[in-house]
Amino acid sequence: MDLLKKRIVEDGTVLPGNVLKVDNFLNHQVDTKLMDEIGKEFAKLFEGEKITKVVTVESSGIAPALMTALHLGVPLIFARKHKSLTLTDNLYTATVYSYTKRVSNDISVDKRFLNSEDRILIIDDFLANGQAVQGLLEIAKVANVQVAGIGIVIEKSFQKGRSMIEKTGVRLESLARIASLENQKVTFVE
Ligand code: G4P
Repeated sequence: MDLLKKRIVEDGTVLPGNVLKVDNFLNHQVDTKLMDEIGKEFAKLFEGEKITKVVTVESSGIAPALMTALHLGVPLIFARKHKSLTLTDNLYTATVYSYTKRVSNDISVDKRFLNSEDRILIIDDFLANGQAVQGLLEIAKVANVQVAGIGIVIEKSFQKGRSMIEKTGVRLESLARIASLENQKVTFVE
């Protein structure tokens, strides 16, 4: 997606440790017009897939997932990382390890919101090591729902998330694929 790549080049900064900082348009301050375009693009890519729900993990996945769900005309579910007062024990849960933050989080979805007739689209802001996606795939399996695909805003193709997903056979679409962040420079996959 050229608009997104242009924005990454203009407004993204590369931090030590191969981290791309995009908090001025994606995961802290959010550019709503860009997010709308991202939602449109995912909806176009996955139209015809008979998706019933879009699923993400809080917090940074919510903005692109919400716009995608809006354009597909289906609900959004975001898995929660923290136990809510109103969440009951009736939960699907998976453990997600964050390499970047070096912490494990349990993510949960209330069983009322996923059932065997669902065909979901997983959306997330970043694909790095694929831990968040793996957690959602585990939940989908236990909930007996079909996964129509995975949509990623920014894929760090030099980390192992893509190969993990490819092994599952689930369709993966990334709007920007980054080949390298070496020397503070963003290089995209051709
Ligand atoms: P994963 O995202 O593929 O699961 O891999 P990893 O465990 O490495 O990522 C852990 C967290 O770090 C994720 O956020 C992910 O989005 C974020 N992350 C990974 N690489 C980058 C990067 O280059 N730039 C930025 N800005 N974030 C990156 P999270 O723990 O789910 O947090 P949240 O922000 O969604 O709450």
